[in-house]
Amino acid sequence: MSRVISPPDASPATPHSNGKAGAARKTVLITGGAGFIGSNFARHIFEKYPDYRIVVYDALTYAGNVENFSPAMRESDRFEFIYGNICNAAQVTEVVGSADIVVHFAAETHVTRSIFDGRTFFETDVLGTANLAGAAVHHGSRIERFIHISTSEVYGTCRSDQESMDEEHPLEPCSPYASAKVGADRLVYSYWRTYGLPAVVVRPFNNYGPSQHLEKCIPRFITSALLREPLTVHGVGGSARDWLHVADTCQAIDRIVHAPAESVVGEVFNLGTGIATDVLSIAKRVLRHAGLPEDHVAFIGDRPGQVELHRACTQKVRRVLDWQPRISLDEGIARTFDWFRENESFWRRQMWMRKIKILTTNGREWH
Ligand SMILES: NC(=O)c1ccc[n+]([C@@H]2O[C@H](COP(=O)([O-])OP(=O)(O)OC[C@H]3O[C@@H](n4cnc5c(N)ncnc54)[C@H](O)[C@@H]3O)[C@@H](O)[C@H]2O)c1
Repeated sequence: MSRVISPPDASPATPHSNGKAGAARKTVLITGGAGFIGSNFARHIFEKYPDYRIVVYDALTYAGNVENFSPAMRESDRFEFIYGNICNAAQVTEVVGSADIVVHFAAETHVTRSIFDGRTFFETDVLGTANLAGAAVHHGSRIERFIHISTSEVYGTCRSDQESMDEEHPLEPCSPYASAKVGADRLVYSYWRTYGLPAVVVRPFNNYGPSQHLEKCIPRFITSALLREPLTVHGVGGSARDWLHVADTCQAIDRIVHAPAESVVGEVFNLGTGIATDVLSIAKRVLRHAGLPEDHVAFIGDRPGQVELHRACTQKVRRVLDWQPRISLDEGIARTFDWFRENESFWRRQMWMRKIKILTTNGREWH
């Protein structure tokens, strides 16, 4: 029978759970594993390590989707889904108690939403992380590794005297989302310093790939192109990011899970490509791939607190983990485009969330 733990205030029933845990070498707890990167990572670990047990803990906010788990995972006795909220400290303490490795993705993640209403970002991203890190400390020696998924957004925009952002770049968050993630990032670091939590902080740059929510830039562009609608671009689309395919991110986190403790615990790692590409160029690549003219674009007001340039310095992760991304931007966009074309049912259900009210430098707009 399924094992389901629901917080007392949780209304929806758990859509899926199959807690028939068999003998397994390690249990990997993945918070936020029903979301974009978390579900790609859960699938990666499930397929690569047949002797690992995987527990996904997720509150299924608008961003979580149990259909992101493959049929093989759902049927497996070494995969378990637990419906729950990281803000529920008692439940988190219980769930963490069965884990050897914690990989913490759960967060409110959409910058644009955080500008409109930031409160839940601080509740989930900061206080939820405090619950999780506290639970890991509580369970002490059982936890081998606590991997906190932070973000490159903590850096703000790249300093004008620097070509790229290394792990020592100042933390100058430009949005409420980014500042909440700074809080969580430094909280985890302090738990390593204070309590000896075997923590690693990972700062991925802009991820894209299958199962990403429609509200994010590349899925929004791809689905607009599939619908033959103009691609909406903030400002003039000059904001440049370091775009990393999610499969490369999963490979890197896998290495961090399995690296010797002395080379990663207490460390921060950037994950990126070292190449920055502006948003308008991304739109044009998507349009080319869709066979549409490159000017099939609608410009809207710029986003307040816009980050102008994000480019990762990846020297540390190359040196310590011998990791580098394998998927080029062209290949990644082509693969992602094909995935969205072939998985229309995934994004059709999210269509009503594609346009949300946002705050731009021109005032409130639909986006
Ligand atoms: N997507 C990116 O480009 C990117 C880049 C760098 C870092 N990150 C970080 O990676 C992590 C995952 O990002 P994503 O893009 O996959 O996010 P996502 O929004 O697709 O998924 C977030 C998941 O967390 C769950 N969640 C939210 N609040 C929760 C709560 N209170 N309790 C339990 N679960 C909760 C959601 O249901 C969802 O399944 C986040 O921490 C994000 O800050 C993302």
